[in-house]
Amino acid sequence: MALNGKKIVLGISGSIAAYKAAVLTRLLIKEGAEVQIVITPAGKEFITPITLSALTSKPVISEFFSQRDGTWHSHVDLGLWADAMLIAPATAATIGKMANGIADNMLITTYLSMKAPVFIAPAMDLDMCAHPSTVRNLDLLRSYGNHIIEPASGELASKLVGKGRMEEPENIVKVLQDYFDAKQTLQGKHVLITAGPTYEQIDPVRFIGNYSSGRMGFALAEECAERGAEVTLIAGPVEQKTVHPAIRRIDVQSASEMYAATLSAFPASDIGILCAAVADFTPKDPARVKIKREKDDLILHLVPTQDIAAALGREKKAHQCLVGFALETNDEVAHAREKMKRKNLDFIVLNSLNDKGAGFRVSTNKITILSQEEQIEFPLKDKRAVAEDIVLHLVKTIAKP
Ligand code: C5P
Repeated sequence: MALNGKKIVLGISGSIAAYKAAVLTRLLIKEGAEVQIVITPAGKEFITPITLSALTSKPVISEFFSQRDGTWHSHVDLGLWADAMLIAPATAATIGKMANGIADNMLITTYLSMKAPVFIAPAMDLDMCAHPSTVRNLDLLRSYGNHIIEPASGELASKLVGKGRMEEPENIVKVLQDYFDAKQTLQGKHVLITAGPTYEQIDPVRFIGNYSSGRMGFALAEECAERGAEVTLIAGPVEQKTVHPAIRRIDVQSASEMYAATLSAFPASDIGILCAAVADFTPKDPARVKIKREKDDLILHLVPTQDIAAALGREKKAHQCLVGFALETNDEVAHAREKMKRKNLDFIVLNSLNDKGAGFRVSTNKITILSQEEQIEFPLKDKRAVAEDIVLHLVKTIAKP
């Protein structure tokens, strides 16, 4: 009973999917949760507060205050009271306001005051769902650390068929249950994560780099921190930001800097996740001044870098767990398995450049987890959801005797 006694603020905005909010409320209460509903003015057009308050045994909050009896609803108190906030359905308008801090109703002010994790279940027509502004707003909300419960595909109220349907109440409840179930599974663990590319200097203005955005490693860092871990994140040059206070970030540039930082942090770590796309070669003697254009060919002398994963694999003690990544273009599984063995990893996460939507510079990934005994294939998902799958597998691995 992961939701037993949990205090949940359920925000409802103006979508036809609001009718499902009654079932959702009922399910949450059946699981033992205490539910406080906050509804937008448009939400009330789709479902009446009387239906909802009859289910929660609490008045539904919609206005900032009541002129009639002078009561004032404190969004700040709600933000402190809740163990989680769930916005279901979340319309394009509500998502846009949340992403941009437009606090013109009680639901948005409550969201902005929220101290607890926030789950958002969008509901809208397929074209609104695919619009660049919606995509950007959802990306912004994700970057603030919110959990997006992806809308499902299927027939929509408009009779159009596509992505935009609010996830079914049973599945939304499951997301919350899984969250609370797994929340403290990494309590007391130290997790070391490498992320992003490395830049290998050619001269003062040029480098050899790669397309890694760091998104996967940063998503893993947030996921581990939310589950109670202390995280050390060694990041190459990336645009990503960290959100959770339990993440200690160390910025590095080159493969050799990443090697030094990672090796020094490993002895104090229980888990290492090596997600960085580390350069395999680096210029032997970087020029001290900018290399000038000449008529002749320019030949760079490159030397191999040190393999961080392999070095940690050699250092690994019995209580430590090591996870690597493999990005392959051919004979994926065989190559990944060979790397797992050679680098002494407990498991390896394979992504193939042949899968659309997987790999560099995209917000999604499609992975296969390989361990000595297992081969588990996952569907294409948002990188944060992929991070969750990886961490759940990690939790299972470290629980094994
Ligand atoms: O051999 P390959 O580079 O494909 O292996 C990928 C795995 O090894 C990833 O987990 C990556 O982070 C790690 N790696 C590393 N140091 C390197 C090269 C790769 O830690 N120099």
